[in-house]
Amino acid sequence: MLKTDIKDELTYIEKVKKINEGKNLKYHILTMGCQLNENDSEKICGMVEQMGYTKTDDVMDADLVIYNTCCVRENAEERLFGKLGEVKKLKEAKGTIIAIGGCMMQEKHIVDKIKKSYSYDVIFGTHTLKNFPKDLYDAILERKKITDILDIDGEIIEGLPIKRNDNIRASVTIMNGCNNFCTYCIVPYVRGRERSRAPEDILNEVRKLAQEGYKEITLLGQNVNSYMRVEREKFKQSIKDESDNVEKSSSAGQRNSINEIDSFAKLLRAVNEIPGIEKIRFISPHPKDFTDDVIEAIRDCSKVSKFIHLPLQSGSTEVLKVMNRVYTKEQYLELVEKMKKKISNVKFSTDIIVGFPGETEEDFEDTLDVVRKVKFEQIFMFIYSRRVGTPADKMENQIPEEIKHKRFDRLKSLYEEILKENNHEYIGKVEQILIEGYSKTNKELLTGRTDTNKVVVLEGDGSLIGKVIPVKIVSEHMWYLKGESNIK
Ligand code: 5AD
Ligand code: SF4
Repeated sequence: MLKTDIKDELTYIEKVKKINEGKNLKYHILTMGCQLNENDSEKICGMVEQMGYTKTDDVMDADLVIYNTCCVRENAEERLFGKLGEVKKLKEAKGTIIAIGGCMMQEKHIVDKIKKSYSYDVIFGTHTLKNFPKDLYDAILERKKITDILDIDGEIIEGLPIKRNDNIRASVTIMNGCNNFCTYCIVPYVRGRERSRAPEDILNEVRKLAQEGYKEITLLGQNVNSYMRVEREKFKQSIKDESDNVEKSSSAGQRNSINEIDSFAKLLRAVNEIPGIEKIRFISPHPKDFTDDVIEAIRDCSKVSKFIHLPLQSGSTEVLKVMNRVYTKEQYLELVEKMKKKISNVKFSTDIIVGFPGETEEDFEDTLDVVRKVKFEQIFMFIYSRRVGTPADKMENQIPEEIKHKRFDRLKSLYEEILKENNHEYIGKVEQILIEGYSKTNKELLTGRTDTNKVVVLEGDGSLIGKVIPVKIVSEHMWYLKGESNIK
């Protein structure tokens, strides 16, 4: 794990700050996509605020507009181009600086389209976040259009400033990239190969968050439960090379050392020890990497949530094979059973794609069957969308839009049925709820979540915010539960 020194890059924060001095400039940021992107945006906000900009929700009011894009599904593209159309006028009227970053910028056809048809000042990719202050400096001072994209994997960058969105719950990225190459997914092409952050950097960040009063940590990565896998394999290989006497004299003493915390299970156990943190979540894991040590760590660690995201994608063994998910329907269900046996009260959420190329009615029925059997607490449902450059995009048996939408609606109806059943089971139970703040729709009520991420609203005093309290669930609604607490 080579760490890059970013002192030079950070000096540009000061340089831009000097240019901006006394100008009372504002920035607006829009983040698309997953929590990893949200976490990158927190770093962008950290840098931008140190450069003297203050945040505004109103794009019309902004001197700097930043779009942090996602390319995992199609609709984000349409949204970005819509937004770029709108800010074009703003740029013409008052010279607003436009910066576009994130994983969509790793796609050449998108960057070409922006360059051809839209206004922009800075385009930056997923591997060049640390250069953002310099890119902005060059764009402002030299009035140049900057495109700063790297195709090769960026190193792990430590030490970027960060401005977090919340003061109770925080995300901590533990790894970047993905080696799985699911055939529908663009992520491995735009985020690069798997590389893990050093455990001591992660633990230091969590310790710091605990000291600042954060209670809940979400460990982030495209494939969190393969944390340190690549590094472990490299290490094993280096030992093998040594014992095979390959370049013995030159490699002796140069071998990569490996930390004691060399797996996701060990990382979970270490984070669990940090005082002050009350809840630990993680997304996204891959079913194939739920080894026994990970399952046992979840079971043993009192702070680790027993609500597990277990992306299914499809319930059909045939489709799973073409998706390159490397598990069958039966293996997935066996894993669920094993986890239920080992972890008391475990609950699941999942991701499902409908309408993958070649998906037959029977394949789709298999998906519904798994949903009925597992009774997921939460399902993120996606209509398959073709991504340029992925193997699935080249498959000839694409499913017509109409069938995809009909299947999506059928899955949604089943989900709503199951949701009702699941919600009903909460009535009368006492749940430990981390109170996050006031309800957005009713400022008189407090809001928090169950371990299973269900929103709970209740009456109570503002002093409970940030505390974990027992709440009795008294009524159910489709998307939230109502609770009561004796603690005032
Ligand atoms: N089409 C639809 N959904 C997709 N996902 C990833 N790629 C695609 C695609 N091409 C979904 C998967 C993944 C989630 C983050 O997005 O379900 O788990
Ligand atoms: Fe994409 Fe599959 Fe990697 Fe998840 S595991 S990021 S779906 S390639």
